[in-house]
Amino acid sequence: MAQRLEVTTPDALPEETGAEAALRPSRLDEFVGQEQVKASLQIAMDAARGRGEALDHTLFFGPPGLGKTTLAMLMAREMGVQLRTSSGPVLEKAGDLVGLLTTLGPGDILFIDEIHRMRPALEEFLYSAMEDFRVDVRIADGPNAQTIPMTLERFTLVGATTRFGLLTPPMRARFGMVERLNFYPPDDLERIVMRSASLLQVPTDAEGGLEIARRSRGTPRVANRLLRRVRDYAQVRADGTITGQVARDALARLNVDEFGLDDMDARILTTLIEKFDGGPVGLNTLAVAVGEDSGTLEEVYEPYLIQQGFLERTPRGRCATANAYRRFGITPPPGQATIFDG
Ligand SMILES: Nc1ncnc2c1ncn2[C@@H]1O[C@H](COP(=O)(O)OP(=O)(O)OP(=O)(O)O)[C@@H](O)[C@H]1O
Ligand SMILES: [Mg+2]
Repeated sequence: MAQRLEVTTPDALPEETGAEAALRPSRLDEFVGQEQVKASLQIAMDAARGRGEALDHTLFFGPPGLGKTTLAMLMAREMGVQLRTSSGPVLEKAGDLVGLLTTLGPGDILFIDEIHRMRPALEEFLYSAMEDFRVDVRIADGPNAQTIPMTLERFTLVGATTRFGLLTPPMRARFGMVERLNFYPPDDLERIVMRSASLLQVPTDAEGGLEIARRSRGTPRVANRLLRRVRDYAQVRADGTITGQVARDALARLNVDEFGLDDMDARILTTLIEKFDGGPVGLNTLAVAVGEDSGTLEEVYEPYLIQQGFLERTPRGRCATANAYRRFGITPPPGQATIFDG
């Protein structure tokens, strides 16, 4: 039986998934930014179409909310093929995977979210499916065990992960395209906010749009979420229009600072400064101190803090930069100021 499983994301609240779907770009040219990734996909799709072949297996990796699932959906749409979705943790038995694989037609896309969380036994099973388009299905166990080889159509596996480092080397090696998604610069986020505002029919001026964009942690999902919150505020406390001032007031109430740092970002930096004198401190120690899993800390939170110049990874551990001290109104220790200033 084919499984059509809804893709859930760690930071999308259940009531927001519907709203998120409404704002998801449905064509590649509506997908803002990530120009390099889009260009590679476009070439790969044109070439595959020209040859009448399936796309190469593709892996998207990067922090949550940057568009991995969206791109998988866009690929299926642009190629005019079926998309089946599942995710690493929900695939339990080889049978689950066989069920999915055997329903795929030529060129169809199987999207596996959180592919790093797939069970090793299933991962090995997937190798032959990806490489040779066949699987050996085991019938019965014990002395009467028999395997029947099954041929699959040439499908495309699209994998997504926030934890590239946890993917096994043989798994990585089987993807013909590996695309990394990066945080979006404010201009791109502003375009995303303005596009979403027009879909939601909420009047938003350029300053209002930019204000939301700047505080969105480089992440489209966050931008759309903040837009919805600011829209509520504009409706209740103003005349419905999102201006710069309305956005600033609304975001201040939401505790989103002008760099877009959220509560966990703030906790990481203040812990580093107050408990560990700004570091260096090891990743695991820091993770325990803030109550977050070290992998999530490393691959979800740190990249943005590093990109924004608040945190440094050094061989001896994590350090808060002078910027981080200033952000929390604390005077950096003299050494820190000279090392990190300028
Ligand atoms: N480049 C983009 N242009 C416009 N909107 C975007 C873009 N990227 C993402 N979005 C919006 O952000 C939302 C989240 O994107 P998506 O679900 O694809 O992220 P993801 O990388 O799969 O996240 P996760 O790792 O949590 O699964 C989408 O609903 C979409 O509306
Ligand atoms: Mg996703």
